[in-house]
Amino acid sequence: MATARKYNVEAVFKGAPKKSDFKIVEETLPAIKDGEFLAEAIWLSVDPYMRLFVNSSNVGNTMFGEQVAKVIESKNENFKVGDYVAGMFGWRTKTISNGDQVRKLDRSVYTDDKLSTGLGILGMPGATAYIAFLSICAPKEGETLVVTGAAGVVGSAVGQIAKIKGCRVVGFAGSDEKVQYLKSLGFDEAINYKTMTSLKETLEKTCPKGIDMFFDNVGGEFYDTIIPQMNTSGRVAVVGCISQYNLENPEKGPRLNPSILAKELTIKGFVIYNHLPRWPEAFKAIGEWIEKGQLKYNETVTEGFDNMFDAFSGLFTGKNTGKAVVKA
Ligand SMILES: NC(=O)c1ccc[n+]([C@@H]2O[C@H](COP(=O)([O-])OP(=O)(O)OC[C@H]3O[C@@H](n4cnc5c(N)ncnc54)[C@H](OP(=O)(O)O)[C@@H]3O)[C@@H](O)[C@H]2O)c1
Repeated sequence: MATARKYNVEAVFKGAPKKSDFKIVEETLPAIKDGEFLAEAIWLSVDPYMRLFVNSSNVGNTMFGEQVAKVIESKNENFKVGDYVAGMFGWRTKTISNGDQVRKLDRSVYTDDKLSTGLGILGMPGATAYIAFLSICAPKEGETLVVTGAAGVVGSAVGQIAKIKGCRVVGFAGSDEKVQYLKSLGFDEAINYKTMTSLKETLEKTCPKGIDMFFDNVGGEFYDTIIPQMNTSGRVAVVGCISQYNLENPEKGPRLNPSILAKELTIKGFVIYNHLPRWPEAFKAIGEWIEKGQLKYNETVTEGFDNMFDAFSGLFTGKNTGKAVVKA
């Protein structure tokens, strides 16, 4: 019988997540039954959505989340020992699964050195960047895109896809190092939002022809300031609002409807798990762009299962550039 280590949720987050909101416990797993396999975590994902979706029903249960794992025992003919899979197994070292909603990773794509991309650029966040940007922002050559959270896995991919489509790209991120990183990816303008003086003036200066597309990962002041500066028929993808996730009391924003109405803006929310049939198309296109050197990605690796909380909380202080992953 195998023993797993896992993070149980001890309390619903109040403000910024605390280490004491989790507890690492051991669990003895039963023997696998017909149709099941046992998988061992290799890479674990920490994502901003985790902050949003923990509620009282999670308390006492394993923290949810995706991981890349290796099949180490199997009584399921579709998953052989030695296969690698991506599944929503949670923050745990070993998992018994029946294969339901598990992606088997194609080893010609997810080679040893690229296994972690199954959680990032060739996983849920990469699919988010591709599907949300192309379907909501519908880019046209020569148009201007503003992307917030630009140095994260989603934002950095969106900016590069927009460059591939011939757009002018302006990105906001939280440090000078991240600004340099974005410039190295080909962003036309990259701004450290923590040191700029005025967002409105920065937008006027960096977007002389106005803003046609806004891919928002951050919300809050960015959203409130950018919407009135959009061009007529502008498109806005509301994909994240990380500036709001840790707030105990929701902020009140300005009333934006006159701008939305007068400029005939299209503003659309997006949930990646409602677009599963398009994931393969996204991975194929992104894979080809990576292959051709048109799209680059970065990962911030935290070593050790015991350090998952640090990787998670680092998302809210800007510790990561590109995808934050934990090496089990
Ligand atoms: N709708 C969907 O289906 C979907 C799917 C995937 C992701 N998302 C959302 O997309 C966004 C980006 O996701 P990701 O995976 O690429 O995460 P990420 O950008 O890699 O990680 C979070 C980054 O957000 C920035 N940040 C944290 N707090 C902030 C604040 N108060 N104000 C401004 N920036 C802040 C930090 O960078 P700085 O150093 O730049 O501050 C941090 O590094 C998140 O909001 C996430 O929830 C949505």
